[in-house]
Amino acid sequence: MANVIVIGAQWGDEGKGKITDLLSRSADVVVRYQGGNNAGHTVVVGDRTFKLHLIPSGILYPKTECIIASGTVIDPKVLLEEVDRLKDLGISTDNLFIAETAHVTMPYHRVLDRASEEQRAEHKIGTTGRGIGPTYADKSERVGIRMIDLMDEKRMPKKLRWAIEQKNIVLQKLYNLEPLDADAIIEEYRGYADRLRSHVVDASLKVDAAIRERRNVLFEGAQGTLLDLDHGTYPYVTSSNPVAGGACIGVGVGPTCIDRVIGVAKAYTTRVGEGPFPTELHDDIGNHIGERGAEFGTTTGRKRRCGWFDGVIGRYAVRINGLDCLAVTKLDVLDDLEEIKVCTAYELDGKVVHDFPSDSRAFARAIPIYETLPGWKKSTSECKTVEELPTEAKDYLKFLADLTATPIAIISLGASRGQTIIVEDPIHGPKRGLLKA
Ligand code: IMP
Ligand code: MG
Repeated sequence: MANVIVIGAQWGDEGKGKITDLLSRSADVVVRYQGGNNAGHTVVVGDRTFKLHLIPSGILYPKTECIIASGTVIDPKVLLEEVDRLKDLGISTDNLFIAETAHVTMPYHRVLDRASEEQRAEHKIGTTGRGIGPTYADKSERVGIRMIDLMDEKRMPKKLRWAIEQKNIVLQKLYNLEPLDADAIIEEYRGYADRLRSHVVDASLKVDAAIRERRNVLFEGAQGTLLDLDHGTYPYVTSSNPVAGGACIGVGVGPTCIDRVIGVAKAYTTRVGEGPFPTELHDDIGNHIGERGAEFGTTTGRKRRCGWFDGVIGRYAVRINGLDCLAVTKLDVLDDLEEIKVCTAYELDGKVVHDFPSDSRAFARAIPIYETLPGWKKSTSECKTVEELPTEAKDYLKFLADLTATPIAIISLGASRGQTIIVEDPIHGPKRGLLKA
């Protein structure tokens, strides 16, 4: 294989879990480089469905090492629940490693996430309420608790007590909330530390060693390009960098070790949470896509907003991430449609624009310009090769490849591992695909 980054090319939930699971077969190490348990990956193996939030989907392969890197934020309670659930299902977590420099989500982060959302009223972001933003804020503020602090039995109580006392002032004075019980939290986190200790490592060193030994490393992004703190639809974004560039920072390796970047995009678009979404559908077709695509959040169960594929966003994702190829997922969800629209550009304040506007307010005014393509009105979920796909489906994919000037390397036609067409091995082969632009 090679060292590959897999990222979401839209607003998250593109089906990265399935694609990383597929690629994990050839990976020796899978590294999650940012985000926390705001993410949710669903992987279907046979008749079993695994919902993972923090642990990379590579864990389902017994020999694959899974690393939760420095750029992530870890809620130890959620992580241990995930470990227990996998154990119940007979899946070992002996190969799970956690960066000692990753930041720890504390109970006050969860409380502050919800309290600040409430205070934002109509300006709310629609966060997952998992404390992700406040954990990253503390990291930048340089008052965060890291895994390495949690592991230090002597210093941990002191460090936590100080942090909790500081936050209690904020909770009481700013939000009029009850203070948290420092002793109880220290005890709780001492228990987590004991259980996690054997997994905590210097993750940068571990990944570097794997790269030097020429083992194959898969860098798994959570969320998606448009939720990126720097390059997404700010302020309606998450608080980390899901884009490909975030992988090197989040893991602690240099950009020269990356061989390929794969972008995962749905054959349409979804968004969960607030913020502008030009191709959003508010009609029966939107509902149909939502129902057929089972578009409900893995983490919060919220209904995802659905709309047409947006080529402006597609091209933007190619640029920001330096995508080599695309994996297009959930094509089968469009099987019943009479016709399918694709946004090729926006009309913005009377002008045609082809590039993503970085000003959120401008983006909110963007009116999609559509090209309408015929639907195929046949089931694609059993197709095993590109040739077996209906002509209109092939034409649709070719249109997306042309629009984004990026080859499509993988087509996904359902949740199970078998419902996948590898157009051309995106890792061994040249940077071209059969559905080449
Ligand atoms: P936070 O990451 O919980 O702070 O939420 C910020 C925004 O990112 C909200 O719009 C969330 O709905 C969105 N978000 C966070 N994680 C995911 C994800 O894994 N998939 C899709 N949207 C997400
Ligand atoms: Mg998800």
